[in-house]
Amino acid sequence: MTTDPAAMDALHARAIDVARQAYAPYSQLRVGAALRSTSGTVYTGCNVENASFSIGGCAERAAIAAAVQAEGSAFRLAAIAVAAFAQDGSELPITPCGACRQALVEFGPEARVGFRQPDGAWLDVSADALLPYRFAFPRQ
Ligand code: THU
Repeated sequence: MTTDPAAMDALHARAIDVARQAYAPYSQLRVGAALRSTSGTVYTGCNVENASFSIGGCAERAAIAAAVQAEGSAFRLAAIAVAAFAQDGSELPITPCGACRQALVEFGPEARVGFRQPDGAWLDVSADALLPYRFAFPRQ
């Protein structure tokens, strides 16, 4: 994990910022994600819900989609931060969901993943550590 603390802090701030753009009228949970690719570019995403609650999109995978659109299959994830806010504007601790963890390890098992702990401190761990025994497409 190579992302320095200042660069990680910048991702934390961008994740907080982009959460404002979330479309979350059903869960009322506004989530923002900001990632840095190994090329050094930052991409962001927010959650986007719809009336069929179960098929909304998560912030992390929105950011990954933006990165892949820009960098193609060469995209590799260096670091990502995620932040979530309640309707009253208070920040809430969350960690990436299972589906997002699988997407994170796809592009960077060594990437740093930053999220708020219940005490308000940021915790940065590797994507690999977030998803042990993960699915890998079996060789045939
Ligand atoms: N959500 C994310 O954006 N990322 C996660 O890792 C977990 C959940 C969103 C999806 C949904 O819009 C809302 O949070 C509540 O689950």
